[in-house]
Amino acid sequence: MVVCVCNAIRECEVRKAAREGARCPASAYRAVGRKPRCGQCFSFAREIITAEAATA
Ligand code: FES
Repeated sequence: MVVCVCNAIRECEVRKAAREGARCPASAYRAVGRKPRCGQCFSFAREIITAEAATA
């Protein structure tokens, strides 16, 4: 599933970034070499990061 339409970032990429230490959408996007743009995806990305951090 695509999380961020602006950057075509997939859920699996956000999960991987979270496992590797990203704690917010901006740092997760940086980890995959992209930058936040419109911000519409932030709440969903944050949910994914929180969920991944909880299981780490
Ligand atoms: S959908 Fe992610 S920055 Fe626009």
